[in-house]
Amino acid sequence: MKVTVVGAGAVGATCADNIARAALCEELVLLDIKEGISEGKSIDMMQTATLLGFNTKIIGSTNDYGKTAGSDIVVITSGLPRKPGMTREELIGINAGIVKGVAENILKQSPNAIFIIVSNPMDTMTYLALKATGLPKKRIIGMGGILDSARFKCYLSFALGCSPNDLNAIVVGGHGDTTMIPLIRLATWNSVPVTNFLSADQQKQIVADTMVGGATLTKLIGTSAWYAPGAAGAALVESIVRDEKKLFSCCVSLEGEYGQKDICLGVPVVIGKKGWEKIVDYKLDAEEQASFNKSADAVRNMNDVLKSL
Ligand SMILES: NC(=O)c1ccc[n+]([C@@H]2O[C@H](COP(=O)([O-])OP(=O)(O)OC[C@H]3O[C@@H](n4cnc5c(N)ncnc54)[C@H](O)[C@@H]3O)[C@@H](O)[C@H]2O)c1
Repeated sequence: MKVTVVGAGAVGATCADNIARAALCEELVLLDIKEGISEGKSIDMMQTATLLGFNTKIIGSTNDYGKTAGSDIVVITSGLPRKPGMTREELIGINAGIVKGVAENILKQSPNAIFIIVSNPMDTMTYLALKATGLPKKRIIGMGGILDSARFKCYLSFALGCSPNDLNAIVVGGHGDTTMIPLIRLATWNSVPVTNFLSADQQKQIVADTMVGGATLTKLIGTSAWYAPGAAGAALVESIVRDEKKLFSCCVSLEGEYGQKDICLGVPVVIGKKGWEKIVDYKLDAEEQASFNKSADAVRNMNDVLKSL
């Protein structure tokens, strides 16, 4: 098993670190365009091998795609992160060119790889990767909903005073401050609806906090967060490598599911060794479906911007 992570910045390096620690592959390549950064971080990570007890060989590469050849999974994190006050959507101009170029280079070396897209605006970058590579849709997975769902569970656990691991909760729709939809109606605490334990105001606050979860951290840190995004990317890699068939909210190509087509958007999917295997229909109620449609409209508008770049 060989995994490549493109972009050795905050998210890419954290994702690679998590992949190595969990010993998910024999070979892990970290590639970046900035001279030396991926080689340096790879050696630093290799030097944790005896401390953490893994055997993964980690190889750094400054833009040499030859080293990525034959990868089974590629995680694309290259591109600018947002600064405080920015939306993810504002990154489209620069990141579209980066993601397209990277996806094409990767494809030449690893025609059978499963792609995980992290770069923002992620829904549009996933759509772009799907179109630019022409790969079967099940091999293109956008990472966003899994992170937003982890944030949702975190805020729910604060309010309930419980372990986040006892919660089941999912965020669908776009990966944007105004496009994501935390499905609080369906969230449970060990099978009991969380709505049984939370006032309407508390529920509203948790949903609002989740939606701006990334922006809150960007304001505090001064740049976009990386621990949870890196771990979320690695969790997807793990479900593929170990064929776990975990159900995650991921951005995938819709062809009529959830009432949408010709778009990549966050829905519950089963992740296994072939990529995303099936979309699970959560049977949204009328209000949730209306929010989903609104989210799709916003993402579609962003996808249209690709035509003018
Ligand atoms: N989908 C999500 O849930 C999620 C979460 C967090 C961050 N992000 C996004 O992930 C991306 C990376 O964030 P970060 O915090 O790691 O940023 P960062 O600036 O720390 O790292 C980005 C890296 O990409 C590299 N890069 C730029 N162009 C490249 C190219 N053509 N080829 C190879 N490498 C290239 C840069 O040199 C840099 O090292 C951003 O777009 C950010 O918005 C997405």
